[in-house]
Amino acid sequence: MFDILIKKGMVFDGTGAPPVKADIGIKGDLIIAVGDLDDSNAVDVINASGLSVAPGFIDAHTHDDASLIIRPDMEAKLSQGVTTVICGNCGISGAPYNLTCEPSGLLRLVFKSEDFVAKDFKSYMAKVEEAKPSVNSAFFTGHTTLRMNAMGKNLNRAATKKEIDVMKEELELALCQGSIGLSTGLFYEPANAAPTAEIVELAKVLESYGGIYATHMRDEADFVVESVEEAIKIGSEAKVPIIISHHKCQGQHNHGKSIVTLEAMAKARKTQSIAVDIYPYAASSTVLNEVSVLRAEKTIVTWSDPYPEVSGRDLKSIAAEFGVSKLDAMKKLLPGGAIYFMMDEGDIERIMTSNNAMIGSDGLPEDSHPHPRLWGTFPRVLGHYARDRQVMPMHDAVNRMTGLSAKNFHLAGRGVLKPGFFADVTIFNHDTIIDLATFERPKQKSLGIEQVIVNGKTAWIGGKCVGAGQGRVLKRRVGEK
Ligand code: ZN
Ligand code: CU
Repeated sequence: MFDILIKKGMVFDGTGAPPVKADIGIKGDLIIAVGDLDDSNAVDVINASGLSVAPGFIDAHTHDDASLIIRPDMEAKLSQGVTTVICGNCGISGAPYNLTCEPSGLLRLVFKSEDFVAKDFKSYMAKVEEAKPSVNSAFFTGHTTLRMNAMGKNLNRAATKKEIDVMKEELELALCQGSIGLSTGLFYEPANAAPTAEIVELAKVLESYGGIYATHMRDEADFVVESVEEAIKIGSEAKVPIIISHHKCQGQHNHGKSIVTLEAMAKARKTQSIAVDIYPYAASSTVLNEVSVLRAEKTIVTWSDPYPEVSGRDLKSIAAEFGVSKLDAMKKLLPGGAIYFMMDEGDIERIMTSNNAMIGSDGLPEDSHPHPRLWGTFPRVLGHYARDRQVMPMHDAVNRMTGLSAKNFHLAGRGVLKPGFFADVTIFNHDTIIDLATFERPKQKSLGIEQVIVNGKTAWIGGKCVGAGQGRVLKRRVGEK
């Protein structure tokens, strides 16, 4: 007798193996049987005939840190079949938050207010648990946050030995309290003033804890190759696995450079562990900044504190209305955010199907007019790229959002449908799954996600959140490598 029995679905087990027709038996929060369970019964029998059954998707790159607390039903994620979100990315984490300066623009964008941060991960994770989010979460410690704690107001410089020691101590405590590693946002102020050696020193702390280094690199355009080399160097000198966040090549004259970056990674993989994550769109999104505005073919403003009414509009038409240049218009809109069209489909497909590439949305949940990746990433990869464009088999796509990610982030007992694993399950319709979120109307639920189970309880069914907050904080396990 099971609590839940999922019958006759095509089971993608998450390992990258082709699907097989099988039943799945769940008891409590665990999968306890996979196979022909025809003679068994359950409290809740789900007929999955004609449907696909996969491990719950793991969003490898998010900024859901505060969102887990602000809107714990996590509709943008559950509606895509996502059951776990990796937070604390791009150098920005809500803990340990002991700022000695004004918060940076990106930190403000992710956290909005100081209600959603905490002095250490112990209290931060307690806050998340108390909010009872519907999905599981794991957290990186942000280098930018550490810098703003340790370095006072003058951040436009390398950290001193003494300041690095303070950051190391904070990082070590964070790892002990369950953070999974260190993230950087070297493209952004104030992290861009940090030399490689500063990051290597900090990353060295990770080794004995089995921590991971994830990086939004210093440059994703003219110097993308050099930036990949810097990340590889940090990983090799600190002897830690690296994850290159939202890998992309920005700007028309850099299109195609992923051939070079992926080759560099393949070569380095002989001696170290390297993964990347990617979102399936040819436009990026972040705070309004001069470099990106100059590089993009088109810029859509997503939010602006002084001019909230321009949200969703093309910067060019805003500039015309103001009667100023695009750059001057941008300056008037600060602080604000934007979507930048500057990538190439060829690079996207090459990176997405490359060795050890995972799917991560990089969605910005507090944006008033967010990039559609927030609501559409996973169904878009499955429906558009795997089924319609056939850039990879469906079981390969599923692996890149489940088993592969669980392995790279050391999420024990997740990402695979096997007895003994946690019952995070997404049931989807292979024929209809597709994203509906667009650049014009970004807050749209996708089609084809039939039912989502988190830790053995149904969290999404009939196009609605029904969970009572079954998500857990996934802590780096002590002594785990
Ligand atoms: Zn980033
Ligand atoms: Cu990010």
